Amino acid sequence: MSRPLVDSADRTISSRVFTDPAVHALEQSHVFSRCWLYVGHRSQFKAPGDFVQVLAGTVPMLLCLDDAGQFHAIANVCTHRGGRICQLEHGNAARFVCPYHNWTFNNRGDLIAVPRQHSPGFDKSRWNLMRAARVATYRDLIFCTFDPDACSLEDYLGEMKWYLDLVLSSSAAGTEVSAGVHRSIIHCNWKIPAEQFGSDNWHFQGVHGSMGRLGHRNEDPLHANSFHSWTANGHMLISVAPRREIPGANTAYLDGLAQQGNLSDAQLRLLRGSLVMTVFPNLSFVYFPGLCSIRVWQPIAADQTELWSWALYNRDAPEAVKEGIRTQVTRMFSPSGMLEQDDLEVWTRLETNLKSMPPSFRLCYEFGAGEAGTARPFPGATTNLQSDTPAFAFYKHWARLVGQDATP
Ligand code: FES
Ligand SMILES: [Fe+2]
Repeated sequence: MSRPLVDSADRTISSRVFTDPAVHALEQSHVFSRCWLYVGHRSQFKAPGDFVQVLAGTVPMLLCLDDAGQFHAIANVCTHRGGRICQLEHGNAARFVCPYHNWTFNNRGDLIAVPRQHSPGFDKSRWNLMRAARVATYRDLIFCTFDPDACSLEDYLGEMKWYLDLVLSSSAAGTEVSAGVHRSIIHCNWKIPAEQFGSDNWHFQGVHGSMGRLGHRNEDPLHANSFHSWTANGHMLISVAPRREIPGANTAYLDGLAQQGNLSDAQLRLLRGSLVMTVFPNLSFVYFPGLCSIRVWQPIAADQTELWSWALYNRDAPEAVKEGIRTQVTRMFSPSGMLEQDDLEVWTRLETNLKSMPPSFRLCYEFGAGEAGTARPFPGATTNLQSDTPAFAFYKHWARLVGQDATP
């Protein structure tokens, strides 16, 4: 019997997980069609009729706000011959007219008009656009799922909500994202960055070593507030405490948030350090004081990912704080950002290397195997920062979904 892609017996993962088009196809039908997927932020919608083009897995979608204030995620793919019914990235429309033969759909995905319709008995209601089974929000984040039997979004996020609240609800006013979206193609599998953002603090000293030499690192990996956490459904995060409090442009703003009382003292302490987290499957956040970005790793092909990213800040933050966060996100985490350039180079070489190896090649996720979990006053299971256990939990969840788990 061939070995499973993810093998719990020796904590190894087949390189095919990152390279094989058949695996990519399998995860579209078993992962992206069953999980809750991030598709947008409330602040992108100002009025009824507003829409944005999004991706849900590989499916091009329109996320629309209807007159009743309901969000709908509908495929931007005509049911007649597959035309792209909307060409604009975002806008406002009550209906969409496919440019090929002008079939017309409302912003809930219903087929409402077919020009020159001469086919007796033609039933328009059979040809509505494909749509997500459910759309739901957590704080200001909008998710959809194609699985009508999926658990609620709240249950799906579970204990991860405590950590998401750090970046989503430090102000009662909620959050907003920067206008537009950074989009860039990365020549690697989507799981490589999703894994790194949720579970790989270790790479920082190697890949971003130049930042340390420039004096831009202020981290205490042995601090009690430096840890990995992972929760049910494959979510995971890295929390790194600062070595020392260095007053900065954002310090007074953080002090003000502490006074508002929306977060607990434990949460506020974590906000003084850095947080990098991945909500399964492909939504990540990176936060440092004065920097916060939402990033979605869109699975274009087995060896190609499109990164969509936005700056994220409190809706009622002073304009100087928002501008500072936009500037820092661009400086660090845009295609020309100091940290992102380092990662892109490594991820691309990694993909090329893995594709060159025989299909029997396996990767080591052994660090931390057999470790006794250390009790920490934080949600989820936790461990120290040099452990593969959170990443392996991510892949075990993935493997269960694609039917490739070998958990004894
Ligand atoms: S493909 Fe859309 S109307 Fe024909
Ligand atoms: Fe990195």
